[in-house]
Amino acid sequence: MAGADPRRLALLVSGTGRHLENLARLTQAGELDASVALVVASRPGIGALERAARLELPVWVLEGTRGVSPAELSTRIFERLDAEGCGTAVLAGWLKRLVLPPAWDGRVLNIHPSLLPAFGGQGFFGHHVHEAVLARGCKVSGCTVHYVDDEYDHGPILAQEAIRVQADDDAERLAARVFEAELEAYPAALRAHFARTPQP
Ligand code: GRF
Repeated sequence: MAGADPRRLALLVSGTGRHLENLARLTQAGELDASVALVVASRPGIGALERAARLELPVWVLEGTRGVSPAELSTRIFERLDAEGCGTAVLAGWLKRLVLPPAWDGRVLNIHPSLLPAFGGQGFFGHHVHEAVLARGCKVSGCTVHYVDDEYDHGPILAQEAIRVQADDDAERLAARVFEAELEAYPAALRAHFARTPQP
């Protein structure tokens, strides 16, 4: 539904759900003018589901996805999002590849823990990103919010926050500071997205 309300969000999760919690709390506090219409979990048993339950969010858990192609899985997901009237899909620690239907172009956002296009793409997730940043001797890192296309970590960039790499950083310390920046960057990027996306 291209005419769906951009502020009706679907949050897609595969992990611990820290962004899910941050975004849901901001919407519930009225600090982010949006609502979480649906949480889509890529599999059962992930930490994000416990947070979603505590926050009383509607949840859809994908099961039996082994062997299902990214195209077929994406069709299932976006049909459901259309049926729920979701206008924007927010990838919040989502790890599966998506193939976007044309109507969803420019309506799916992702956050990545590096300054893309550096340290993005297949295999660059979690601690792998920060280890690679440190191994390369980078003096700055940060996070990127971008629109999703059919390649990992690739679509047009909406926002970036840079942070300094400290001489004594290890991957864990660096990850923690990048994540602090992410907590500000994602809601800010969503506000920017809403501002440029007409409401129906
Ligand atoms: C963050 O590092 C983010 O950049 C990446 O997933 C991580 C957050 O996952 N896309 P979660 O919200 O803790 O599940």
